[in-house]
Amino acid sequence: MIRIAIFGFGAVGRGVAKVLMDRRRMEKLIGEYRVVAVADSKGSIVSECVNLKEVLEIKEKKGRLPKGMSVEEIIDEVEFDVALELTPTNIDTGEPGLTHIKKCLKKGSHVVTSNKGPLVVAYKELSKMAEKSGVKLMFEATVGGAMPVIKLIKRDLAGNKILSIKGILNGTCNYILSKMEKEKLPYRVILSEAKELGIAEANESYDVEGIDSAAKLVILANSLMDMDVKFEDVEVRGITNITPEAFEIALEKGYTIRLIAEVDGSTLRVSPKLIPLSNPLCIHGTLNAILIKTDLAKEVFVIGRGAGSTETASAVISDLIEIYSCEVSR
Ligand SMILES: NC(=O)c1ccc[n+]([C@@H]2O[C@H](COP(=O)([O-])OP(=O)(O)OC[C@H]3O[C@@H](n4cnc5c(N)ncnc54)[C@H](OP(=O)(O)O)[C@@H]3O)[C@@H](O)[C@H]2O)c1
Repeated sequence: MIRIAIFGFGAVGRGVAKVLMDRRRMEKLIGEYRVVAVADSKGSIVSECVNLKEVLEIKEKKGRLPKGMSVEEIIDEVEFDVALELTPTNIDTGEPGLTHIKKCLKKGSHVVTSNKGPLVVAYKELSKMAEKSGVKLMFEATVGGAMPVIKLIKRDLAGNKILSIKGILNGTCNYILSKMEKEKLPYRVILSEAKELGIAEANESYDVEGIDSAAKLVILANSLMDMDVKFEDVEVRGITNITPEAFEIALEKGYTIRLIAEVDGSTLRVSPKLIPLSNPLCIHGTLNAILIKTDLAKEVFVIGRGAGSTETASAVISDLIEIYSCEVSR
């Protein structure tokens, strides 16, 4: 019986909970399980078998879970086999996720996370801790949302040397740029439209200044290319200075402009780039895409949805299945 703890009950946490409610679908894949704890920033519910339907209703009605143990207290006092760490990203400190993940790994629990912060700040340290404890640290959801990247490269391209990774890793920027391309309107106009549609955050700087893409690039470089880099090692330029005129000139020559994150084994860069209109990276809307170059398989291209509650839940659930599917088939 797998005991699951869910830390963070926002868009992703609730998306994951809804999939876990579908026992017929999940038990075929991971065997029997129960959720033993769910926590948000203000409270928690801890029980032998948490009723997820009830917890979702409470969260929806009251906006918060009832007062209870903090995540740290749950890790200290409650027995669970795997933690789903789904709290907000902070790429400067990695907190609160960094402390949560370290405590779980020390305790000997597997961790599945969608939180970029802890991995950007301390990937090597965390992966060593997981190895030492004989548990798994899984993080598919941190890069590209539903788009399979991490397990695709680690598992399906195993044996390949990854020569370079080049991609569009931020759906908000891609939405703004592809709208500028189509409507020839200034950046600011499209940005406010994106905010109205809920595609851009009220504070958009994390996305449009390239910070989010750079954080994801650090995770890819450290986890898939055996590099040991920090956020500061990425050369970052965002999209705030791109004009409709730049698009006009680019389009006349058969190009468009996209925010590209790239790593080739030595340099890491996030910057707006000219992309031929015929190139697969010329994608539109909030999609993400990634072009992987390897020595054996050569080029592999993936495209998919980089964010959203169910989309990100897809990646979290696939990590959970990756941990437990061997045990089911044994
Ligand atoms: N949403 C996406 O499409 C997406 C895609 C890829 C990756 N991610 C990443 O996945 C993570 C979760 O995203 P989200 O969209 O679900 O964020 P969210 O809606 O802001 O939810 C975050 C949740 O974490 C809780 N939380 C905050 N501090 C906590 C603490 N100290 N202890 C326990 N819980 C705490 C919040 O509590 P309250 O409910 O009380 O505020 C909330 O329930 C983030 O790191 C994000 O970057 C998100």
